[in-house]
Amino acid sequence: MLARRVERIEESATFRITDLAKKLKREGKDVISLSLGEPDFDTPMHIKEAAVKSLMRGDTHYAPAQGIPELREEIAKKLREENGLDVTAENILVTPGAKHAIFEVAQTLVDDGDEVILFDPSWVTYDACVKISGGRTVWVPTDRENGFKPVNLAEYVSDKTKLLILNSPSNPSGAVLGERELKEIADLAIDHDFYVLSDEIYEKLIYDDVKHFSIGSFDGMEDRTITVNGFSKSYAMTGWRIGYLAAPKKIMKGLMKVQSHSVSHPTTFVMYAALEALRQPQDFVEEMREEFNRRRKVIVEGLREIGFKTEIPKGAFYVFPYVGDFGSGEEVVERLLSEAYVATTPGSAFGPGNKDYIRISYAASIEDIKRALERIKKVLTESS
Ligand SMILES: Cc1ncc(COP(=O)(O)O)c(C=O)c1O
Repeated sequence: MLARRVERIEESATFRITDLAKKLKREGKDVISLSLGEPDFDTPMHIKEAAVKSLMRGDTHYAPAQGIPELREEIAKKLREENGLDVTAENILVTPGAKHAIFEVAQTLVDDGDEVILFDPSWVTYDACVKISGGRTVWVPTDRENGFKPVNLAEYVSDKTKLLILNSPSNPSGAVLGERELKEIADLAIDHDFYVLSDEIYEKLIYDDVKHFSIGSFDGMEDRTITVNGFSKSYAMTGWRIGYLAAPKKIMKGLMKVQSHSVSHPTTFVMYAALEALRQPQDFVEEMREEFNRRRKVIVEGLREIGFKTEIPKGAFYVFPYVGDFGSGEEVVERLLSEAYVATTPGSAFGPGNKDYIRISYAASIEDIKRALERIKKVLTESS
C-alpha cells in the first residue's frame, strides 16, 4: 500500500525506545532516560526573549525561502571565522533543523542507484535519507579500538559513489576525526569526484583539547562540501527546529527547489531567535560543555566498572560501549529497560556492525547517571 521508498526504511529506533520508556513512565515506573539525543538544559533566556520580541513585533508572516538575510549573513560570518569556510550569505540555506538539511541534500544530490558512503556506526537518519532518495548506502567499517576511524576507505569508493556523509564529533560513537584523517577523505573526494556532507552539529561539544576541523576548508573542497550545522545541540534548542547548511551555489539552486516546495522556510520568529543565539556572548555553550565533560567521566568510569568495554568519547554526549559479554545489544537494551528502567538504544540502529553495542546518552543529570549506573550494575552483575 505504501510507496516503495517508504517501505525501504525503518521507524527511528531512538524514538521507538523513547516511546516505550514514556509508556513505562505513564505506568508509574521511575524510568531514567539515556536514549534520546537532546541536551537536558533549557534554552538560554536571551534567546527565548528574542523569540517573544520577534513574535510581538509581528514577525508572523512568510519569510524568504532561503532564510532571513540577517541570519544568513551571521551564519556565513561564523563559518568563515570559526570554520575557515569560504562562504557568503548566498551559500547559506536556513532549514527547520539540521535533520531537514540532510534530507534536502539527499533529495537534491542522490539519484536512484547512486552510492552514498557512511561510516559504521553512523546516526540513524543518514541511511534513511539515502534510502528515501533512492540511493544505496555503502557501509565502511571502522576501527573500534582506535577512535572509530574508517578502515580501508578507498576500497569502498566506486564510480557510483555520489556522496560521503561525515559526522565529527560522531553520534553515536563520540569519535572525532583529526585534520590528517579528514585530509585523506578530502583527497579521495577530489580524486574520485564525489560530494561530502559534513554534519558538524556537535562541533562545540568536544573534550580533552581535541580540535574540531571542517573538511570544507581544505583547498579543492569548497565546490564539493555541504556543511550542515544547527542550534539544537549548541544552544539546547531541539524543539525550535532550526538549523542550516552551507553549499556551493551550483547545489543551492536544487536545494532551494526542495525547500521552497516542501517546508517553504523555518518559522520566521525562530529565525530571529537563532540570530540572537549567534550574536550574543557564547558563555552558555562553554558552561554546557563543561557539564557534559563532568558527566562523560562519571559514565565512562561507571560503565567500565560494570564490565562494558568502551573508548572514552572525544565529543558529543554519547558513549557507545561493546556489551557482547552480557548478550546482544538489543537483549541488553531490553533488559535494562524492563528490569532496571533505564532507557538506552541498541547499536543495531546505527549500522550493520553494531549488534553487540548500545548507545548511552549522557544528556542527563549526574545524579540520574549515577542512579542509572547503580541499577545497570545490579541487573547485569548481581542478578542470577
Ligand atoms: C548527528 C546529528 N545530526 C543532526 C541531528 C538533528 O539535529 P536537528 O535537531 O537540528 O534536526 C542530530 C540529532 O540527534 C544528530 O545527532
